[in-house]
Amino acid sequence: LPTSADSPVHLGPARLFPALPAEAAAQLERLGAVLAAVRPLKAKHLRDLPQAVSELSHALTDERGSGFSPDYMASPRFLTAYLSYFLPWNLYRLTRLFSGLALDLADGARITDLGSGPLTVPLALWLARPGLRGRALSFTCLDKSVGAMKAGLAIFHGLAGESPWRFHLVSGPATRLPRETADLVSAAFVLNEIAPPGRGRQAPDLERLAEQLARGLSPHSRLLVAEPGTRLAARRLSSLRHALIEHGISPLAPCTHAANCPLPGTGQSGWCHFNFDTMGAPNWLASLSAKAGLTKRNISLSFLAAAPGPIAGAPTMVRAVSEPFPLAGERYGVYGCAEPGLVLLAGTRERLPRPGEALTPAWPESPQRDAKSGAAVIEVKDEPAKRRGMTGAKPGPNAGPRPAAKAEPRAGPKKEEPVKGREAGGPKAGPKPGPKPEHKAGAKPGRAPRQGSKPGRKPARKPEKK
Ligand SMILES: C[S@@+](CC[C@H](N)C(=O)[O-])C[C@H]1O[C@@H](n2cnc3c(N)ncnc32)[C@H](O)[C@@H]1O
Repeated sequence: LPTSADSPVHLGPARLFPALPAEAAAQLERLGAVLAAVRPLKAKHLRDLPQAVSELSHALTDERGSGFSPDYMASPRFLTAYLSYFLPWNLYRLTRLFSGLALDLADGARITDLGSGPLTVPLALWLARPGLRGRALSFTCLDKSVGAMKAGLAIFHGLAGESPWRFHLVSGPATRLPRETADLVSAAFVLNEIAPPGRGRQAPDLERLAEQLARGLSPHSRLLVAEPGTRLAARRLSSLRHALIEHGISPLAPCTHAANCPLPGTGQSGWCHFNFDTMGAPNWLASLSAKAGLTKRNISLSFLAAAPGPIAGAPTMVRAVSEPFPLAGERYGVYGCAEPGLVLLAGTRERLPRPGEALTPAWPESPQRDAKSGAAVIEVKDEPAKRRGMTGAKPGPNAGPRPAAKAEPRAGPKKEEPVKGREAGGPKAGPKPGPKPEHKAGAKPGRAPRQGSKPGRKPARKPEKK
């Protein structure tokens, strides 16, 4: 990770989620044998594995369902299911994510991983960033399940062999961060589980969590929070982003700005998440997934990379979030996020960016507004190949540090001339004035209408089942 305050580097490059590197794909394929060695299964347990995976998937996905047990890692059957299915799919997601971020960790860097489970984040870093493998990194992993962390450690040694990486496994609450700050604080797929004591499965106190995270970061640290791409998880992440900004922690990616989130997942608004393919996922994992009735052709993820202090924002940069959907005629649209709010990128299908790609289109003086969503309509004229030379891992054109990572309430988009000649459809409501932090108890997951689920706004893929 960048360690110099005077070279603020965006963690969000032009293209998030690049294809899985070939070496990482080979290592993930090898993980099957490593798992079999670390956790050998009797024939009857092997036969039961798809059923256990399916049960755990339902318990975790229908998270308010009666089957959910917050201590599933303590059950040997479910721990095996987690290691065999959830761990590798989370590794796949995080490896794609880490491969696309401008991550670097110096020799001697400290990493704190909250709700580490089977050390998924360290394992994904090892897979995604071969350049870090020879460095002396020190991980503090926090989880209430010491069994999961120990299994993860055995898997790490099975994959990495001799390694200069050191692990301190701490059994206890995920939010009890060490007093010493870390260069990277990470939390993957834990927000849904870390409710305060006595609150069962209810929403975590995100304001308190933001405060705790802020204390764990030094001025040069980075924070990374990853969640499944569900509406509920993305809404929590958007609320956490809001609370972090209040504590002076600025978003670096996927956001290109520290203004209010235009896809907070509240009410009828869309939610910020990225779908991508599963190319390169191991064959053994595809086979287990199919047996469990959970075949995956695409996966989704929401995440937030953030850092203390002001950021170099890029007000004209747009991060594509949705998949392309048809507009009237031969044209297509993609929803994107930018500092001024929600954007509808419009153009021919070949010119439109893929989810996660950032581009800096020419902004008209006063853009037209999409009648349904209120998004500013921006034409994409450049070919993708030309764009690649336009944005990079560096900050945007206005890279000067900006003061104050404070979220000011932003007025909703002005309703201007609706775009003519487009098919009807799109989110019912325009972007809300700002993310409504999800407060305290009882946030219902509700129905999860997909962004663009109306005619003419159909994303190409279905939301993923965990
Ligand atoms: C879905 S798993 C994610 C594990 C890992 N980060 C990954 O990406 O695969 C959630 C983890 O959070 C842990 N956890 C949940 N609530 C916790 C709490 N209050 N304190 C400590 N650990 C907790 C669980 O034991 C579990 O290992």
